[in-house]
Amino acid sequence: MPYDSPVGLAVVTGASSGIGTEYAATLARRGWDLVLVARRADRLDALAGRLREETGAAVEPMVADLARSSDLARVAERVAADDVALLVNNAGINGYGPFTEVDPALLAKVIDVNVVAPTVLTRAALPGMVARGRGAVVNVASLLAFAGALPPAPLPHRAVYGGTKGYMVTFTRTLAAELAATPVRVQVVCPGLTATEFHLGTGEAPVTGEARVHDEGGMPPADVVAASLAALESREVVCVPGLSDPGPLARLADEELAVRDGSGAALAPRYRTPERSRE
Ligand SMILES: NC(=O)c1ccc[n+]([C@@H]2O[C@H](COP(=O)([O-])OP(=O)(O)OC[C@H]3O[C@@H](n4cnc5c(N)ncnc54)[C@H](OP(=O)(O)O)[C@@H]3O)[C@@H](O)[C@H]2O)c1
Repeated sequence: MPYDSPVGLAVVTGASSGIGTEYAATLARRGWDLVLVARRADRLDALAGRLREETGAAVEPMVADLARSSDLARVAERVAADDVALLVNNAGINGYGPFTEVDPALLAKVIDVNVVAPTVLTRAALPGMVARGRGAVVNVASLLAFAGALPPAPLPHRAVYGGTKGYMVTFTRTLAAELAATPVRVQVVCPGLTATEFHLGTGEAPVTGEARVHDEGGMPPADVVAASLAALESREVVCVPGLSDPGPLARLADEELAVRDGSGAALAPRYRTPERSRE
């Protein structure tokens, strides 16, 4: 399925700013119609109006808080409809802070928005896509999915966020294997630091005021989206927009297989105590 041509309707979550706004704008310019999901109605309405005017696309704003189960169910129902050809699970929050100090309710919300919502929406979208023999799901993760080997500084305070993004990577890769025999594509995109509003708050409440970009720099969101849509064309399952040499991804996959293949039913020698050796 060519992602450059008008092929139907795309649902983009987290479309009210940053990477999600760029997915919406890029897809509309390429001829897609859109359903735009986020909490801030004013932003969605303004974006929908602009894209209708600039591109002629049909754009449906859908105000929803993906951390609320009733809203999520409403979006899932929309995503399951026959006209949806592309789902972009982009909405995400960071909940950064020292793990022992962050409000547990915020950590639960990070998991709800970053893990539960994309899983529920993917589950809603895929049966119809598989039955129709066309469609794609893009999950926006992060380079922090690969944070487990990082030293404590300069990136502490991201354990739950990194965990949610690690989930998205393993979820998407495993799902891709499950769907390999179908024409339906799934992708996980892992941006590094991107110039959006993402670091202006923890995500507990929407960023207020006009759109503004954080001061830390980072990749323009349009480049993240260009990489993701190009990777859909080339059927790359794990898309890392800033990674020039994809070799490490292949080696990572090889090492994962080595961990699995090297692990058997017998207790590894380094864990054997004299007591366990006698049994
Ligand atoms: N910026 C980075 O450096 C970076 C790097 C790697 C990965 N990412 C990932 O990229 C994705 C997009 O982030 P961004 O950088 O574009 O940040 P952003 O500008 O803060 O955008 C986040 C989007 O998610 C929406 N959202 C947040 N909570 C929501 C909720 N409860 N229900 C519905 N929508 C919600 C926000 O809309 P409302 O506030 O209007 O609801 C907004 O549209 C996220 O998954 C993030 O983890 C970002």
